[in-house]
Amino acid sequence: MAIRAAYKEKGIKVYEARWEDVLPGLRGGTVDLVIADPPYKISKRRSRFVQCGYERDHDFGEWDHEPFDLSGLFVQIKRLLKPGGLWWCFYDIWRLDIVRQAARDAGLHPWVPFFWHKTNPSPAFGFRHPLNAAEGGVFGAWDGNDKAYRFAPGGYIHNVLVGAACSEKKLNGRARKPVWLVRKMIETSSGENDKVLDPCFGTGPVLKAARDLGRRVVGVERDPGKVQVAIRRLEEGNEDEDEQDTQDEQGALEI
Ligand SMILES: C[S@@+](CC[C@H](N)C(=O)[O-])C[C@H]1O[C@@H](n2cnc3c(N)ncnc32)[C@H](O)[C@@H]1O
Repeated sequence: MAIRAAYKEKGIKVYEARWEDVLPGLRGGTVDLVIADPPYKISKRRSRFVQCGYERDHDFGEWDHEPFDLSGLFVQIKRLLKPGGLWWCFYDIWRLDIVRQAARDAGLHPWVPFFWHKTNPSPAFGFRHPLNAAEGGVFGAWDGNDKAYRFAPGGYIHNVLVGAACSEKKLNGRARKPVWLVRKMIETSSGENDKVLDPCFGTGPVLKAARDLGRRVVGVERDPGKVQVAIRRLEEGNEDEDEQDTQDEQGALEI
């Protein structure tokens, strides 16, 4: 049975479900750009401690402990992307190889690692060292033919993005990506009216950035609480968090 969208507006469909239950039912070859931010699987249980005056927790929640079929997700990404389509997949910078291999196995072209250098790093959590300024992922394509891709006119994609993370206060324990960051990715690797897919959208920064840039959007997320936050972000703009993102963006460098 087809799963009903939890939220719809012109060009936007948002599903509260597991990607495994939604993506196979979508028509193949219809997506221009995928931005995926799957669980990194780095949480440790009972890891609260105080460091430099901050209380830290290296347990992001149940969603980061449960099994996640990254290989299966890439099989669907390959099926859904148009030839010439592009993808970004965030992941733990120590283990980008896992993403690279899963993409390769699915017949996709993992092009280059990217890094998000945070200009407001918090003291390191899990490993208790002072370096905690980067996240990253892999940027790739449907195949290795760079003639076909829809990069921003005159632009190219730099593999280091620089700017602030959302403040701890605004995160409320959620691993949220700032809107400014995903907006840059979408701007540089898709065009007006292109279809953008986020298969585990969390609190929805990709949905919001893509919609505001005039892209069509399909999003899937299985956590009902996060889906509600994302829908509110689309409907009302989540003023508080968006304001924080705008401030963060002022400290961001152009890529
Ligand atoms: C790293 S978080 C994404 C955060 C998001 N980019 C944001 O900025 O809020 C990973 C998300 O994957 C979701 N998730 C895990 N397994 C899933 C599945 N099988 N289908 C859909 N979403 C899933 C989790 O609930 C979690 O919200």
